[in-house]
Amino acid sequence: MKIKDLSFRKFISAEKIEAKVKEVANQIREDYRDKTPLFLPILNGSFIFAADLVRHVELPCRVSFVKHSSYQGTASTGQLKTLIGLNESIFNQDIIIVEDIMDTGLTLSKVVEELRSLGTRSVEIATFIRKSAAREHAVQPKYVGFDIDDEFVLGYGLDYEGLGRNLKDIYKAAH
Ligand code: IMP
Repeated sequence: MKIKDLSFRKFISAEKIEAKVKEVANQIREDYRDKTPLFLPILNGSFIFAADLVRHVELPCRVSFVKHSSYQGTASTGQLKTLIGLNESIFNQDIIIVEDIMDTGLTLSKVVEELRSLGTRSVEIATFIRKSAAREHAVQPKYVGFDIDDEFVLGYGLDYEGLGRNLKDIYKAAH
């Protein structure tokens, strides 16, 4: 499959994705049994994972989408913007940040720092995909779907220059 200048091939099937989402949701349900977590999916990429995840956790919960992007093309620019769109009160809340993919982890370290300084009860991260670079970073997700090498992927919410978010499977760039 070709998108703009890049060729992609299938990497993780929709069936495997669904099984993994259920696995992550089960872990969260166990850990937050007596709590009402507030899920904070980070737009745009996490919208599909978040929609599947919250339906499988089967817990009383709140969901509020936020935005914080540092990405352009296939390489992280390292430029961070502030978190926008947080309308819920997060004081004393158990927050679960929902991310599509952690690459350098830069985006999330900033978000976690910001949330912890605002009187939250707990802040954890659920990322569907973690790249190898993120494993070396100080901020670590409690919940991880797939660990992958440092390669560019798209589909299941992830885009390449705005395209490919609606693909049911996950693809990776072919060399
Ligand atoms: P980080 O701050 O370097 O961890 O970048 C995280 C953000 O970059 C993610 O939320 C995605 O939006 C984007 N991103 C990182 N890697 C990929 C990729 O392989 N495909 C599509 N988007 C990616």
